[in-house]
Amino acid sequence: MASVTSISVNEATAADLRKAAAAAALHAYAPYSGFRVGAALLLESGAVVTGCNVENVSYRLTTCAEQTAVARAVAEHGPKMRIVAVAVANADASIACQPCGACRQTLAEFANGDCRIYYPGDRGAAGECSLADLLPAAFAPSALRERR
Ligand code: THU
Repeated sequence: MASVTSISVNEATAADLRKAAAAAALHAYAPYSGFRVGAALLLESGAVVTGCNVENVSYRLTTCAEQTAVARAVAEHGPKMRIVAVAVANADASIACQPCGACRQTLAEFANGDCRIYYPGDRGAAGECSLADLLPAAFAPSALRERR
């Protein structure tokens, strides 16, 4: 995965990140699934960037909240931005929600395995793990670095 300075995220910061993700979930465009997701990325610079899912009538064109947030982070902070923590939330907090497989790979482009992931666990429990927990043995940018 991309090389990132390891930053420890304290509990207050994690709570703020969860709140930012929950607020972003309210902006979701999810008329088909009704499952409104928000994501908040904490960048190495300290900036927080949010995103929400944006569905499409051609279902497979749907963009997940994490992907929207990553695209926005690159657009606003440039391609060298690095993600140190991610919070995911959904508008119905009782439903568990971890980043999907595609989002794990998208995050791995700009984060290392230490990146903290905060998510809604079962029955409203606050879940937390690392990106490496979600995506072990990741196919990471280092695999192709010598070709760039
Ligand atoms: N969704 C996300 O935004 N992020 C995830 O990691 C899981 C799924 C969205 C996509 C779709 O709009 C809805 O949740 C139902 O799958």
